[in-house]
Amino acid sequence: MTVASDHDDYPAYGQSQHPELGTSGTDSGMRVLFLPGQSRTLRGVPDYDRRLVDLYDGDNPDGPDHDYYRALADRVGASSVLDLGCGTGILTVTFSRPGRSVVGVDPSAAMLDFARTRPTGSGVTWVQGDSRAIPNSGFDCAVMTGNVAQHIAAPDWLRTLRDLHAAMAPGALLAFDSRNPAARAWERWGQEDASLRHTDHGPLREWAHVKTLSGGRVVLTAHNVFESTGEHVIEEQTLTFRSEEQIRAALNDAHFVVTRVSGDWNGSPFDGPQPVMVFEAIVSD
Ligand SMILES: C[S@@+](CC[C@H](N)C(=O)[O-])C[C@H]1O[C@@H](n2cnc3c(N)ncnc32)[C@H](O)[C@@H]1O
Repeated sequence: MTVASDHDDYPAYGQSQHPELGTSGTDSGMRVLFLPGQSRTLRGVPDYDRRLVDLYDGDNPDGPDHDYYRALADRVGASSVLDLGCGTGILTVTFSRPGRSVVGVDPSAAMLDFARTRPTGSGVTWVQGDSRAIPNSGFDCAVMTGNVAQHIAAPDWLRTLRDLHAAMAPGALLAFDSRNPAARAWERWGQEDASLRHTDHGPLREWAHVKTLSGGRVVLTAHNVFESTGEHVIEEQTLTFRSEEQIRAALNDAHFVVTRVSGDWNGSPFDGPQPVMVFEAIVSD
């Protein structure tokens, strides 16, 4: 599983069919690596496998979600854009406009190293860390895309929103997406039968397990076997599914005013069953 797609119905990272498997490995994630002939468990290794990062953009290409965020930044005439949890920077670099500064923040060194090598990556300030590492302040637009919000567990979630509030100008716009728990996306993520695909790192065999925990948490365990070396990379990640009400309450606690919740990338109102919730909120004081 590639750090795949938090952009569609799948959790993204590492595995083509299992978006999000493998993403994170940061404060909320864990990566376990088994090498041929041994069984080595590395708990708490705070990063993604770089070969799987290489597959991320192919599994999570530019699309309507990116169009939505770009249009949003343009709509508010943003002179500064913060992309928290920017990942490989596939969207981040496209925020660049004359006279606008763009900052991408992510805890993953592997993701940021990939982002920096983008042809247009030098136009962005890349910062490693979570919301506590956001540089400067006064951003007039901030985004968390690809379900980054679900990668941030309590109590870090509320702290993240407060840090964003502190880093943004009065009246600035925050936008992010999060999967609707009512759509139960995780029920489609398990894959007992391995699939095989060809990658720049050779044939990759992938399968995944899903486990639900209390508090809307879903643990996704993605298995990735690089057939040419026999390496078996297991990336485990916990995603939090929050309801619209829970997210509204957290935004309110962090002194944001919710101005819109959409249920798709066309701005249609969220009314319950849609798989995605897209929040827009304004810094209130
Ligand atoms: C599925 S990727 C999304 C990347 C990118 N936003 C996109 O749309 O392609 C999730 C990202 O969240 C990052 N992440 C994990 N925990 C985080 C945290 N506490 N704060 C900010 N980002 C975090 C991961 O390192 C990863 O790059």
